Amino acid sequence: MFTREQAEALFRKYNKSESLYHHALCVEAVMRAFARELGEDEDYWGLVGFLHDIDWEMFPEEHCRKAPQLLNEIGADDDFIHAVCSHGWGLVTDVEPQKEMEKILYAVDELTGLVYATALMRPEKMNGMSVKSVKKKWSSKSFAAGVNRDVIEKGSELAGIPREHLIEVTIQALSDIAPSIGL
Ligand SMILES: [Fe+2]
Repeated sequence: MFTREQAEALFRKYNKSESLYHHALCVEAVMRAFARELGEDEDYWGLVGFLHDIDWEMFPEEHCRKAPQLLNEIGADDDFIHAVCSHGWGLVTDVEPQKEMEKILYAVDELTGLVYATALMRPEKMNGMSVKSVKKKWSSKSFAAGVNRDVIEKGSELAGIPREHLIEVTIQALSDIAPSIGL
C-alpha cells in the first residue's frame, strides 16, 4: 500500500486548484470519520476519499475512467481503483458502489460540497453549524445548485445511513479540519 505522502504527491501532480485540494481533504476527513465509527481501516478509507477526484481537473471528459491509469502510478490495487471509479456511478461510469465504503463515498462526495457552501455563507463558518441549517440549505434548490441532492439521497439509501446522520458526521469532520480547508 502506498503512503499518504505518495497520495499527496500524486494529487499535486494532477491538480493545481486549491479548491479541489480542499474538496479532497473534506472527503478524506469524512471517510476517515465513518471508518472510525464503523471500526474499519481509517487510513484506507481516507486515502480513497482523498484521491477520489484524481482525474477531474486534467481529464474532465474522462472522469473516473482516466483514474485507474493515474492511480497505477503509485501502485493502487484493484479494490482501491474500483472504489474511486464507483463514485461516478450512473453519472460518468457504470461501476456500481458495492462495498459500504463505496456507498458512503458516493453519498458524501456531494454532501461535503453542500456543507462547505453552507459554511461559506456563515460568519461563524463551521462553528456551531447545525444539521437543521444544512437541511434548510438542502431544500433551497437555488442554493449550491451544482450539488446533486438526488445522488446524496441515493447514497444514503444504498449505505443504509439516514441523511441526518450523514450530515451530522460531515459537519463534525469538516469542523475538525476547518483551518486546513480555508474555513
Ligand atoms: Fe468529489
